[in-house]
Amino acid sequence: MKILFIGDVTGKPGLLFVKDRLPQLISEFHPDLVIANAENSAVNGRGITASSVEYLYDCGVEILTLGNHVWDQREALGVIQADERIVRPANLPPGVPGRGYTVCRVAGRSVAIISLIGRTFMGLADCPFRAIDQIFSQLDPAIKHIFIDFHGEATSEKLALGFYVDGRASVVVGTHTHVQTADERILPKGTGYLTDVGMTGPRDGILGMKREVVIRRFLDQMPARFEVADGPRQFSAVLAVLDDQGSARSMERIYIAE
Ligand SMILES: [Fe+2]
Ligand SMILES: [Fe+2]
Repeated sequence: MKILFIGDVTGKPGLLFVKDRLPQLISEFHPDLVIANAENSAVNGRGITASSVEYLYDCGVEILTLGNHVWDQREALGVIQADERIVRPANLPPGVPGRGYTVCRVAGRSVAIISLIGRTFMGLADCPFRAIDQIFSQLDPAIKHIFIDFHGEATSEKLALGFYVDGRASVVVGTHTHVQTADERILPKGTGYLTDVGMTGPRDGILGMKREVVIRRFLDQMPARFEVADGPRQFSAVLAVLDDQGSARSMERIYIAE
């Protein structure tokens, strides 16, 4: 089974670049499942909207994961609640809308897609390690193909979670830093791992935002409204190939600069 996962699609440039490049990748790699982290897919780069979600589906994305920007748009609440193809971090406080994982049928098999969020250098959340144990205890043991998007800042926390679920999950990829790491590997017990997939959107901004505004904020520490950057774009993704038992056979990092 081949799963193509696209890192944080950011703003309108990110959406347009997915439309531009995803068809080529689909015809080159023939993925059985295409997942994208959509937490920045609203046109202004903050959260999701009904139209950013529909746009990604039209491009060929089938499942969407989220992160710390989950509630940035008012309309996201209803969208997340209604759509089983959208997964928000599972370790948010109990009772919040939406789902922390979803199960879909792919190539005759069930695949679980799970979203988790980190706690190191990030906002408040419940423990992602205990949350994943809880999900494993709920999942049908017949499900062997398990994909985790761990949305976090710290490489240590991401690596720790990767090793924590090694042999229990098929893939753990990180998102949130918007910068792709070069450490794709298969962990000793068969989990495919990459610390951060990187961002799909404007390449010459700072994490996709106009750099002048970000630099100004570092200098004067005044509140500032970040805007999505213009200019050349990048596409960041990873292709995970899994065997019938759900172990990773390969992890191929994809980075396309415009
Ligand atoms: Fe992001
Ligand atoms: Fe994030």
